[in-house]
Amino acid sequence: MTTPILDFLRRYAGSGTLRAHMPGHKGRGPLGCEQYDITEIAGADDLSCPEGIIAESEANASALFGSRATLYSTGGSSQCVKAMLLLAARRSGSRKILAARNVHKSFVHGCALLGLEPVWLRGGAEASLCSCRVSADELRAKLEGMDELPVCVYITSPDYLGALQDVAALASVSHDFGLPLLVDNAHGAYLRFLPGRAHPLELGADMCCDSAHKTLGVLTGGAYLHISRRSCRDFESDAREALGAFGSSSPSYLIMASLDAANARLSADYGEEAERFCRICGELRARLRADGIPVADSDPWRVSVPAYELGYSGHELAARLRAGAVEPEFADPDWLVLMLTPALNQGELERIGAALSGLERRAPRSPLPPSEPGEVVITPRDALLAARESVPVSLCAGRVMASAAATCPPAVPIVIAGERISAANARLMASYGIEYVDVVK
Ligand SMILES: Cc1ncc(COP(=O)(O)O)c(C=O)c1O
Repeated sequence: MTTPILDFLRRYAGSGTLRAHMPGHKGRGPLGCEQYDITEIAGADDLSCPEGIIAESEANASALFGSRATLYSTGGSSQCVKAMLLLAARRSGSRKILAARNVHKSFVHGCALLGLEPVWLRGGAEASLCSCRVSADELRAKLEGMDELPVCVYITSPDYLGALQDVAALASVSHDFGLPLLVDNAHGAYLRFLPGRAHPLELGADMCCDSAHKTLGVLTGGAYLHISRRSCRDFESDAREALGAFGSSSPSYLIMASLDAANARLSADYGEEAERFCRICGELRARLRADGIPVADSDPWRVSVPAYELGYSGHELAARLRAGAVEPEFADPDWLVLMLTPALNQGELERIGAALSGLERRAPRSPLPPSEPGEVVITPRDALLAARESVPVSLCAGRVMASAAATCPPAVPIVIAGERISAANARLMASYGIEYVDVVK
């Protein structure tokens, strides 16, 4: 597959041209990558209206993912989430949006910016802060009970712990009601390259966003907004403008070149490599389980350890890994999460098993409960625009949440902006180590 952006940058860097254009470093600097960091010069195309090398590169990505259109984001999935919300909201008279509760904070920012009001799907009994598996029955019952149909249905899959939604079933129910299904697939770009149908586009989603930087070999910030072949045509024609509304007018060519280079890699023998790596991760999970370490079911390139089942905190397990020179993706009071890709070799993965082996067993604990959606006092938009003050979490019960999320990662809000903070949710925030929260004054 061609790599027109990368080729252009290499040619330009080698051309000896005097850079009487932005950026100010003029191609020289301490990082070594400055030579490839350019702006929209002649021949470099323009991400806001691509007709040349960027258009060719995005078309390559679209062919790889089987989409109607794939657009690059240099602002991560955070930019794409807001763009998806704008696209869906524009073709609906409603301002309600039906979402599984474990949203990333970019969803709350999007709702605030666009004046959308979330209505929550709560998931089954096993729901936690990060996971909220919704059944087709729950979705259908919720939609049947709503006075007006929402803008769309919005889910996160995989979530931060790697739990996957039944995207096909949820797409089918959404479509029965004439609604688009939007999927935050920030953690699942690689699913496209596994055998079988695993990527949201293949399972019926109308739009989804993939953080290429999270699971593919792409620089941080690189993401895709995919428009499915089955979705309405307006999504495709308006998507560029929608992304532009939430991104810089100076998108990074380093990130675009990285997305471009990924196309060549992914179109080679990546499917085989992806499958092989699934096996390696499966073996690691089996080894950990054989050593008495519980590992949750998750998307294949992740190891999610429910530390509470061992009587440990995720932070304690993370400390053991760090002692073995392994840095995890995420740890909280209940969970330890490792994100793995074929950029790691089998020998390196063995260090994970070694660092966690020989754990002394303790009595299991109960995990923290999921948050309880609180009384909605004002909209997310009014909450983000309101005058605010920071208060100790011990004094926040009864106040109205002013910010989109209090922790990052996982950036999944315990209390949504505009909700009254209940005593239970205040205790939950304290349990997650949050000391201060911003509340409406
Ligand atoms: C579920 C989820 N959605 C969206 C995002 C935002 O992705 P990005 O970092 O690419 O902006 C994240 C980031 O961690 C995430 O975990």
